[in-house]
Amino acid sequence: MIRGALFDLDGVIVDTAKYHYLAWRRLAAELGFGFSEADNERLKGVSRMRSLDILLEVGGMQGRFSPQEKEEMAERKNGWYVEYISRMTPDEILPGVLPFLEEVRADGVRTALGSASKNTGIILARLGIGELFDAVVDGTMVSRTKPDPEVFLKCAALLGDVPAGECVVFEDAVAGIEAAHAGGMYGVGVGSPEVLKEADLVIPGFAGIEWTEIRNQLNTIRK
Ligand code: BG6
Ligand code: MG
Repeated sequence: MIRGALFDLDGVIVDTAKYHYLAWRRLAAELGFGFSEADNERLKGVSRMRSLDILLEVGGMQGRFSPQEKEEMAERKNGWYVEYISRMTPDEILPGVLPFLEEVRADGVRTALGSASKNTGIILARLGIGELFDAVVDGTMVSRTKPDPEVFLKCAALLGDVPAGECVVFEDAVAGIEAAHAGGMYGVGVGSPEVLKEADLVIPGFAGIEWTEIRNQLNTIRK
């Protein structure tokens, strides 16, 4: 029986990857190299500092900067990113997300948001959906990033110690599905089955997806 539904934010509730991309590309341009959308795929679900390392690797500049210089670059990128997301509107909530969340809650299942992003608070406020989650755990509250299960285990604890085996995680990133499984939870992939091979179930997005269908399918898989 599922009693907790845990949602990733970026790429599941809202498509912030495009804003991360604009900001990282701007930093790459300042450093004198190009950064493509294909390169940006590698940053999904990855922490801010790890994203910077990947970016520098793409530009052939790894190992050239001190930790302090890297902190400063990540901060500059984040300033631009915050500028972009501060203009977001509720229209940007991905199709089907709101009815799905409402159906989950109406079924008596508790909901949580588990994100690596330190900007979760700004995004939730812009979208006006904070009250749809019984708990929120973000990048400011964890010390280990996905695929470590810390963020989702904290969500389950905040939901009132729901056992991990009774939680399902919705994730668009491979590292997120790994985190769910490492924590002993179900992992539903949101995206492509070719990428999210390890997921217990994969959906393309929430449009036209019914919670009861997902719940019934998960109940046939033992945890
Ligand atoms: C994840 C995104 O949710 O958050 C990553 O998928 C991002 O792309 C990470 O790097 C950290 O986000 P932020 O907002 O703290 O830089
Ligand atoms: Mg994500």
